[in-house]
Formats: sequence, structure tokens, C-alpha cells
Amino acid sequence: MLTSQNNTKEKEGRAMILERITSKGLAHFSYLVGSDGEGAVIDPRRDCGIYVERARRLGMRIRYVFETHRHEDFVTGSVDLSRITGSTILHGPGTPFAFGSTVYDGQEFALGKIRLKALHTPGHTVESMSYALYDTTAGNAAVAVFTGDTLFANGVGRADLEGPVPEMAGLLYDSITGRLIPLGDGAAVFPAHGEGSVCGIGIGKRTVSSIGVERALNPALQVSREEFVRQRIEERHELPAYFKNVEKWNTDGPPPMEGPPRPAPLRAEEISARLHQDALVVDVRTPAAFSAAHIGGSYSLWLDGLASFAGFVLPVSAPVLLVAERLEDADRAARYLLRMSYDRIEGYLHGGLETWYAAGYTCESVPFLPVRDLAQYLSEGRRVTVLDVRSIREWESGHIEGALHIPAGQLERRTAEVPGDGPIATICGTGNRSSFASSILRRRGFTDVHTVLGGMTAWRNMGR
Ligand SMILES: [Fe+2]
Repeated sequence: MLTSQNNTKEKEGRAMILERITSKGLAHFSYLVGSDGEGAVIDPRRDCGIYVERARRLGMRIRYVFETHRHEDFVTGSVDLSRITGSTILHGPGTPFAFGSTVYDGQEFALGKIRLKALHTPGHTVESMSYALYDTTAGNAAVAVFTGDTLFANGVGRADLEGPVPEMAGLLYDSITGRLIPLGDGAAVFPAHGEGSVCGIGIGKRTVSSIGVERALNPALQVSREEFVRQRIEERHELPAYFKNVEKWNTDGPPPMEGPPRPAPLRAEEISARLHQDALVVDVRTPAAFSAAHIGGSYSLWLDGLASFAGFVLPVSAPVLLVAERLEDADRAARYLLRMSYDRIEGYLHGGLETWYAAGYTCESVPFLPVRDLAQYLSEGRRVTVLDVRSIREWESGHIEGALHIPAGQLERRTAEVPGDGPIATICGTGNRSSFASSILRRRGFTDVHTVLGGMTAWRNMGR
């Protein structure tokens, strides 16, 4: 009895370990995989302590860090992780990385009883790699594949980042059909992103998938090569300015990050002084709190929207000040921004907005507009510009007649298209992006700005 228990324990200790680590906002997935005390991390994020901690708890030594490609939306944690763990960084050929080693198509890496095989799958970027996972105790077929930004659940990677789109889209199609699908329907698919990422269009909600599931359900895989390429050419992707900086860092090696970010507490006077030195305030409180009172010139950006929208308005060189409801929120915001290469987080307003107005500083507000009032204004023919800041897809699925459409990410550079001589009502799905849009307009000197309460959800629920 005792022996059999020991055997079971021993077997458990040697079984393959596979964990997904999700970074919200960026909708980024990274993975820790290994067996028999030897492990690897795929696509680590910048605050890489989490992998070190998890591996320690599992009694695992991280031997390799595999990059599926040079990410453009977040700073890699591979250099720090390699320094801390003594692991080897591996990435694909064709990009002049200043760190790590090049992995070649077909190269294999053993970790205990598992094996990772590198597959060159260009298309999203030229050096994109996928890594097929084999368990030597479970037959010859791949049990899983880490697909990076080549294949997602319900979507495929964008092909507009490097080289001509038709060529890159063709490569992407060939990589998926020629390298990934032949791994077999049973191979689980582990991509680098989930729903909400800017790295692909239409990424689905399912977080569990396989080659078989994608072959059957992924819309991009139901069409000919020609049609696949045409669809990629027609995709309209956003390109936030911070991508350039991330690309550079992820090629040259990012500056080291010493532990988790801890923004400094700042008093109202210190915030005020920094505002005169071109610092930008990012207010991560709820739209309702922002609407009621905020520091003039602040951007209203909800926490989970930072990854998608901060990159459109904050220059990477700008000093950033945070206004949050709670200290944990300020820490989270700093962490999210550092993942995007914003290294100048000067601090947060200690004590929250109360300390600002209690110190005698003025506040600004953005009135909320209920949908019934908006409907009445429009039916009476009153002049009001409805500014819809949702995505093109959402806009095309239905909108208020006569509304002006500028996606939230484009608004800062397109404010000239917004009429400046009358009331403006910003609207989105529920109220986060519209609050962001209102804050952009207020910064640009628009005075008569309203945020539509409840957005298109409320508008539809009103029965219009
Ligand atoms: Fe990517």
C-alpha cells in the first residue's frame, strides 16, 4: 500500500505541467510548461516574477524562454527572466535581436518527458515561430501547439506589421495550413492572445481549443488561400504609437524592471507642480466618478481599457500621474502601463481626488446625458452632435441616425472633424470609451461635452 502511494506521488511529480498566465487588458496569454522539474516559459510578460514564483512552487527549473515572435503590443520579460533564472532565450530567425539565440525550424528541446519542437510559421511577423508540444509517454502525435499570433481561437494574426500585406497574409495561410493543421486535430491550441487583443480581429471567447476545433469553426480557415489573403488585406487595424517603442525594446532588449511597480504617493501640491511640467494625468476611476469631478486636463481611462487605449494618447516619453479610487488600482494601472513601455510613472494622487479639492484646487466635470433626454433632443430637432466612438464593426452593426463616427483610438488625432460650435454627446457601448472620448475633447478645449449614460446598450434597451 505504502509503495503504491509512493509510486502515485512519484508519477504525479513527473507528469507534464502546463499553466496559462493571463494578462488582462492586453488579453495576453503566456505559458509555463515542463516535466520532471525542468520547464520553459513561452512569451513571458515584462513583470516576470510570476513565472519564477510558480516554477519554484512546482519545484521546476526554468531552462528555456521561448518567444513566438517579436511582440509589438507588450514588452517582453524574457531578458529579465533569463537573467533571474539562468535560462536560454530562443526566438525565430530573420529579425536582428540583440539578445537570446536563434531557433531554427525543426529544432527540438527536451524537458523531462516532454519535447518542444520549433516550427517556423511566418506571416504575422517574418520570424514568427510556433512550438509543438510532445509528451514522450503519450504516443507520437503533438499534444498541443503554442501558436503565438499565428493562429488564435476563432481568428488569425494580423498581417500588416511587416512587409506587404498580400505577401505576409499568403505566408500566414501557408504556415497555418502547411505547418499547424498537419499536427492533427487532437493538438490543443495555445495562442498568445485572447478576446480583446489588438493583434487579431474577431478573436473568440473560447480559451480552450484545438486544431480540430479551429479547423471546424475558425472563419478564417473556411476559405480559399485567395479569399484568406483578400480578407487580411481588407482588415483595418489600429496601430497605436507606443508599438514603435515596444518593437525597438523587444529587438534591442528592454530596460530591466526591478520588481513590481510601486508608484510613489504624491500630494496635491506635487501633482499641481508636475502638471506645469507637462505631466499627463490618467484618471482610472469609474466614468461616474470622473464625470462628477476630475483634475482639469485628465484622461478618463478605465483600468481594463488602459492596454487598448492609453497607447493612442500617451507619448511613451511623457511623465504620467495617476488618479485612482484605491491604492491597488494605482498599482494595477502602473503595472499595465509598464507592460506597454511607459516607464515614467511619476506617482499617484495620495488620498484620492478628495485631497485635491480639499487642498483648494479646482475640479472640472463632464455632465452625463441620459438616453431619453438624447432621444428627445433629437426628435425635437435640437442641434447636438452625437459622437459614436465604438469600433467600425460595432458601428456597422447599428448606430443612431445622423451620428458622427470616430473610433475612440482615433479621436485625439481627428478632433478637427468634430464640430466645435454646439453640444456634443459622446456614446459607446456602455460608457467607458465615451468617457475617454469626452476627456479627449475637454482637453482639446471643447466645452459643451456630454457623456451618454449607458451608451448604445441603454439606447437599445429604451426600445428604439
Ligand atoms: Fe504579435
